[in-house]
Amino acid sequence: MPKPLNLVVACSENRVIGQGRRLPFDLPEDKAWFGRKTAGTVCVLGRVCFEIWPRVLLDGRQPVVLTSQPELVRAEAARRFGGDAAARMRVAPDVAAALAFAQQLPGEIMICGGQRIYEETLPFADRIYLTLVHAEIAGDVFMPEWRHLPWRETARRESSDANYRYTFSTLER
Ligand SMILES: NC(=O)c1ccc[n+]([C@@H]2O[C@H](COP(=O)([O-])OP(=O)(O)OC[C@H]3O[C@@H](n4cnc5c(N)ncnc54)[C@H](OP(=O)(O)O)[C@@H]3O)[C@@H](O)[C@H]2O)c1
Repeated sequence: MPKPLNLVVACSENRVIGQGRRLPFDLPEDKAWFGRKTAGTVCVLGRVCFEIWPRVLLDGRQPVVLTSQPELVRAEAARRFGGDAAARMRVAPDVAAALAFAQQLPGEIMICGGQRIYEETLPFADRIYLTLVHAEIAGDVFMPEWRHLPWRETARRESSDANYRYTFSTLER
């Protein structure tokens, strides 16, 4: 029985997830939630996300990085956190290979972006851990449209800070 596939994403109402290799919003509560939620899990992510978030190698996370440049990614991991960290990470050339690795490793599978990985995995995702930021935001990286698919919302919590209102939702197929 394959493990369920979870997407973890924070996006605006107009589906923006990134701007200029950064998050398009600064939400400390969401960052803390994301850190806790992904600790000890298998995190599947693109090479740019890995470069932005090398701490994916910490807190018991097992990264599976999608890239055509495995040596570059391993060298970056070794430079940041040493050879043990580099040896612990997996690199994969495409989504099929990444998910095959992820299925073999212990722990929940979390798809952590970016755009292309979300696009390729959304059609067969079992769950989305969604932080929906109730704003229209400018950006250059997007979450694919998910709202037309038949999700069941199994958890929901509203929150806000000085800049944004946002909702933490768990959506399941
Ligand atoms: N708000 C959120 O929840 C969230 C989550 C994630 C990311 N982001 C934002 O999104 C941006 C980064 O995401 P991104 O989409 O630009 O880049 P990305 O997916 O992290 O990285 C792109 C690179 O990953 C590899 N890759 C990605 N998908 C692949 C696939 N399906 N098959 C093979 N290789 C693949 C390729 O690496 P090579 O070029 O090495 O071959 C590609 O150039 C940032 O702005 C970040 O802040 C936001």
